[in-house]
Order: sequence, then structure tokens, then C-alpha cells
Amino acid sequence: MNTPRLKIAVQKSGRLLDDSLALLKECGIGFDNGRDQLKASARNFPVDIFYLRNSDIPQYIEDCVAHVGIIGENTLIESSKDLNLVQKLGFSKCRLSLAIPKGVNYFGPDYLIGKRIATSYPNTLRAFLQEHNIDAEIHLITGSVEIAPNIGLADAICDLVSSGSTLFKNNLEEKDVLLRSEACLVANKKLAPQIQEILDQLLFRIHSVLEARNNRYLLMNAPNDKINEIISILPGMKSPTVMPLAAEGWSSIHTVISESDFWDIITRLKGAGAQGILIVPIEKMIL
Ligand code: PRP
Repeated sequence: MNTPRLKIAVQKSGRLLDDSLALLKECGIGFDNGRDQLKASARNFPVDIFYLRNSDIPQYIEDCVAHVGIIGENTLIESSKDLNLVQKLGFSKCRLSLAIPKGVNYFGPDYLIGKRIATSYPNTLRAFLQEHNIDAEIHLITGSVEIAPNIGLADAICDLVSSGSTLFKNNLEEKDVLLRSEACLVANKKLAPQIQEILDQLLFRIHSVLEARNNRYLLMNAPNDKINEIISILPGMKSPTVMPLAAEGWSSIHTVISESDFWDIITRLKGAGAQGILIVPIEKMIL
């Protein structure tokens, strides 16, 4: 009998691919990068990776050709497939936005009444227009949507925006955000128990990688009479470790802090008398 293997779909090319593969590798999954191949089998974990066209992935997961996949939430929403969003992955953050040529007076979604809007996201755009009771023409374009207004094909576009440089280069201005998106792990809703078990093991690893990415290990020295003040500044998940130094009257304080607020905390720690502050990346974090 074949040992069950979890089939994971990733983009065969595109903005999510590198970070998707990096995440799987950080989870300790060993495989060859198969940019020119359809499938790679992991050597040390029961996982097969399928390299597929981004927009096809939701359908493959619904049909259980792949059990899970890494796609943008924008792709999941546009597909309207009934899949489980298992885990947001924190990379490839972007938004699906409406943009119009610079200098045109946009007075809200009603501006779009009777206008031609170019997009690769017709379903998401249609839902937005319906929600605002707007009758507009949707022009489906599968690539380079941003040139549509400049060649007279559309009055507005609805496309992904990340840095905003594509809009800037094409003399367009972002006016309304339809949805915010990031990469996520999505799964078929009816996985066999053995497959679900492998997915749970993978999720355990993903959680520890994401936690580690979002946190830093913080070490500092402080005079003993400043310890209480310093501890009061540290976010209180768990009590920090305090160890005496060889130098009389001094201690070393260790804790874990969130990546997002460490600059603010470090400034306050310095003000409270902490010295020799070290911030160290964390390899994995098991909670
Ligand atoms: C998206 C989108 C824009 C660009 C926006 O394309 O269609 O072209 O990214 O990014 P920016 O705001 O950082 O300039 P993507 O690179 O995903 O490829 P696509 O053209 O195949 O959609």
C-alpha cells in the first residue's frame, strides 16, 4: 500500500513562489526547486509539491488533485471556491484596488457608473459594483491591466497594488481598496484523516516558523536596582529570565519580544538603564 502523501500546490511562477518555497524549506522540508518541472517529492517528509498556474490552484484543490495550496487571498476570493483558509502566511501582502488616470476627479464609487473598468478580477469587481449598486462595463484582461487606460481601452482599472510603482509608472492613482490580501495556505474541506494528520504536522512547523519570524530574542545587562523598571517595560507574555553577572550588582535579562514593537521598547529600555542590548533572530519558536 502506498504511504499517504500531502500534495501541496504552489505557483509555478509569480510573486508568491520564492517565499512559498522558502517557507517550506524553513519547515525542514527537503526538496529540489522544480521551476521547470511539474512536481517535486520531499525527501524527508511525506509531501509532494506541485508547480501549477496560480489561477488554476483553487480548482485543483477543490477537485483534490492537490490537498492544499499556497495562494493569495485575492486568488481564493476571486475563485469563489469553497475551500478552507487554514493559515495566513504573512508574506506577499498587497491590495486589490481601483485606480484611474492621475488628475481625474474621483468622487467615490459612483464615479464608475457607466465607465469601462479593466481587470483580471471580474468576480471580485462585480461584487464590489453590485454592493454599491453601480452599473459599469467590466473588461476582462489577463495581464498588463495597467496599460488599459493609456491605450483607450478603459477608464479605470481594478488590479493588485503592492509597492504602487506600477500605478505610478502608468500615471494612475489608487482610489478605492476592494480587498487586502496576503499569501495563505488553503485546503480542501474534506481531507482524509491520514492527510489531515500530515497537514497538522506541517502546520505545527509553519506556526513555529511564523512565530520565530515575528519575534526576536532580546538580551541586556542592567544594574540590579533597575531590574523592576526594566521588567515593567517588557511585554508580559512570560516572566523574563534574570541571571546575575560576574560583576557585583549587575544582572543579565533575557526575553522574547515582537518584531513589530522592538524599536519602541528598546528606546525605553535604554532610558531605563539597560546596557549592552543584543537582539538575536530566532530560528524556530515552539509555543
Ligand atoms: C501585479 C499587478 C501589477 C503589479 C503591482 O502583477 O498586476 O502589475 O503586481 O505591483 P506594484 O504595486 O509593486 O508595482 P504581478 O507582478 O503579480 O504579475 P501579473 O502581471 O502576472 O499579475
